Amino acid sequence: MVMTKKPWGGRFKKTTAASVEKFTASIGFDKRLYPYDIQGSIAHAAMLAQQSIISKKEASKIIGALKSILKDMEKGKFKFSISDEDIHMAIEKELIRRVGEVGGKLHTARSRNDQVVLDTRLFLRGEIQKIVVLITSLQKVLVRLAKQQINNIMPGYTHLQKAQPVLLSHYLLAFVEMFTRDIQRMQDCLKRVDVLPLGSAALAGTSLPIDRKVTAELLDFDAISANSIDAVADRDFVTEFIFAASTVMMHLSRFCEDLIIWSTEEFGFVEISDAYTTGSSIMPQKKNPDIAELIRGKTARIYGNLTAMLTLQKGLPMAYNRDLQEDKEPLFDTVDTVKNCLSIFTEMIANTQFNSARMCRVAQNGFVAATDVAEYLVQKGIPFRKAHEIVGKIVAYCLEQKKELESLTLKEYQKFCKKIDHEIQNVIKLENAVNARKHVGGTATKVVMERIAALERTWSKN
Ligand code: ARG
Repeated sequence: MVMTKKPWGGRFKKTTAASVEKFTASIGFDKRLYPYDIQGSIAHAAMLAQQSIISKKEASKIIGALKSILKDMEKGKFKFSISDEDIHMAIEKELIRRVGEVGGKLHTARSRNDQVVLDTRLFLRGEIQKIVVLITSLQKVLVRLAKQQINNIMPGYTHLQKAQPVLLSHYLLAFVEMFTRDIQRMQDCLKRVDVLPLGSAALAGTSLPIDRKVTAELLDFDAISANSIDAVADRDFVTEFIFAASTVMMHLSRFCEDLIIWSTEEFGFVEISDAYTTGSSIMPQKKNPDIAELIRGKTARIYGNLTAMLTLQKGLPMAYNRDLQEDKEPLFDTVDTVKNCLSIFTEMIANTQFNSARMCRVAQNGFVAATDVAEYLVQKGIPFRKAHEIVGKIVAYCLEQKKELESLTLKEYQKFCKKIDHEIQNVIKLENAVNARKHVGGTATKVVMERIAALERTWSKN
C-alpha cells in the first residue's frame, strides 16, 4: 500500500488506507476548478499581506509560484494524484514543494470549507455568463427564422388536435419568450452566486485580522456573505442554478418533441438537415431526429441532478459535511450538458427546413376557423355560448356532408343562423383569422412584426 503524509496528518498515528484515499478523493472531478482555486488563493494571499498577517515578500513569493503552477496546469503539464485528495490540497502541496515552508502560510485564516465554496462560486459565475450568451444566440436564430417565415400560417394545436391558425413566426417567438425568462432566471441566480464566502473559514470565521472587503474587491464579488455558518453550509446557489438549467432543458426538450413529431412523414412540417440527423443500422430508409431525442433524454438526467442536490441537503446537520462534496458532479454535468444542448440545438434549428406550403395546406382543413365563425356571430349580437353551439352544428353538418367551412354556400350557412351574411367567406380565410388577432400578444402579422422589432431593439442596445 502506498501511503502519503497528509497536510492534516498531525493527529493521526496511522496513514490513510489506499482504499480510503480512493473512496474520498474528489480530485478526479474537482481538478477542473484549478483556475478558480488559484485565482482565489492569489487574492487571499494579497489580502493577508495587506493586513500584515504575512509579509509582502512572503505574499509575492506565494503569488509568483501560484501563477507558475497555473501556467503548468493550463499546459497540461501537471500530474494530478489521488493522494492529494482534492484540488485545494494538490495546489497547496505543489506550492510548498516550489517555495518551501512559506507556502504553508497561504492557508492562514482559511479552511477548505470556505475555499471550496469560493471556487464553486467563481466557476459558476463564469459559466452562467456563458450560458446566457448561448441562450441569446439561439434566440437570435429563432428571430431570424421568424422574420423569414412571417407570411406562413400553420395550424396551432391544443391537445395535439388542430385548434386555430397561427403564424409559424408566432410559434417560433413563443420559444423566444420562454428563453427570455430562462435568461432572467440565470441572471437572478447570478446575484446569489456572486457572494464572497471566503473568510468564513471552517464555520466560525477566524481570530486573525482579515479584511473581507479587500478579498471581495480583488475577486470582483458583488456581496460578502453575512454569516460564516451559512456560507460554508449553503449550496442553495448550486440547487437554484440546476433548477434554472432544468427549465432551459425543459424548454429545449419541448421544442425537440415538436420537431420530432413534425419531422414524421405523417406531419411533414419540417426537414432537419441530413447533417443533423442519423440513420438506422438496419432500416436503410430511415432518417432519425436523434439530436432532438437525445436532448429530450438528457433533460431527464438534469432533473436527476436537481433531485440529487435537493436530497443531498435535506438532512444535513450544520454546517459543512463531507456529503457536500457530492455537489460537484451534478453541477459540472449540468453545466456541460446544458451548454452542449444549447449549442447543438442552435445549429440544428438553423439547419432545418420548414415546409410552409404543407403547414398551410394542413391548416386549410380541420375547421381551424370555427372559433372565428363563432366570434363573428358574437359581433352580430349572439351570446358566445349560443354561437358556439351553432358553429358546432355547422361543423357536424360539414363532417356529414364531407365539406369544409370554405365549401359551404351562404344558403347552407343561413340554415343554421339567419344573421350570417356574405362576410362569412372573409371571416374563415386563414389570413384574416390570423390578422384579426391584433391585440397585444396576438398572432396578427403586424403584432408579430412589432415583437420582432422590439426584440431586435433590445439586442442592439446591449
Ligand atoms: N473536496 C471537498 C469538497 O468538495 C473540499 C472540502 C473538504 N473539507 C473538509 N473538511 N474535508 O467538499
